[in-house]
Amino acid sequence: MGLKCADLDELRGLIGDCHRCALGDTRTTLVFGVGPSNADIVLVGEAPGRNEDLNGEPFVGAAGKLLDELLSSIGMARNGLYIANVLKCRPPGNRNPQAHEIETCTPFLREQLRLIDPALVVTLGNFSTRLLLATNEPITRLHGKVCHAGGMSILPSYHPAAAIYDRSKRNDLFSDFARIPDLVVSSADETVSAERMNGAEHG
Ligand code: URA
Repeated sequence: MGLKCADLDELRGLIGDCHRCALGDTRTTLVFGVGPSNADIVLVGEAPGRNEDLNGEPFVGAAGKLLDELLSSIGMARNGLYIANVLKCRPPGNRNPQAHEIETCTPFLREQLRLIDPALVVTLGNFSTRLLLATNEPITRLHGKVCHAGGMSILPSYHPAAAIYDRSKRNDLFSDFARIPDLVVSSADETVSAERMNGAEHG
């Protein structure tokens, strides 16, 4: 059963001082997500790292610096989109998210996506990509290809942290991001034409 909140504030209140999994005992700050509630684009990372855990904001460390460069390469700033993660609490020592943690936290991400209803979701790295596309395909095969799943248009790409010291992933990240502006426009066009068709059918 999915959650049904009226807005992101209600969802944040419902999550509360979460201890639904053990990460609640080790985190400093729960990182809910930031950005406009009507954003056209939602970026989904993996989980807060050390800096995010201390600041309560996603992508404020080294990976966040590369993310800012990626956004600026397409004429965007981070306050123009919404940024969230698969997990809202930092796994100790930045270990990988575990299956039961993902399962516990996923309803909150799904509800964020339902409420924001963006034109495009960009998944950063294997964890968010595999979760939202319900696939085991590695990101190396999927990155840069637009996929449709769960009623969303999804563009998978690498996690910025994986690209910091890897030139070829870095180049791929920049070319994947270069697709974003056109994808947002074409997704908006699809919505308008679907609405027109519905209007034609019913009116
Ligand atoms: N890595 C992530 O996946 N998310 C963050 O918020 C920071 C680093």
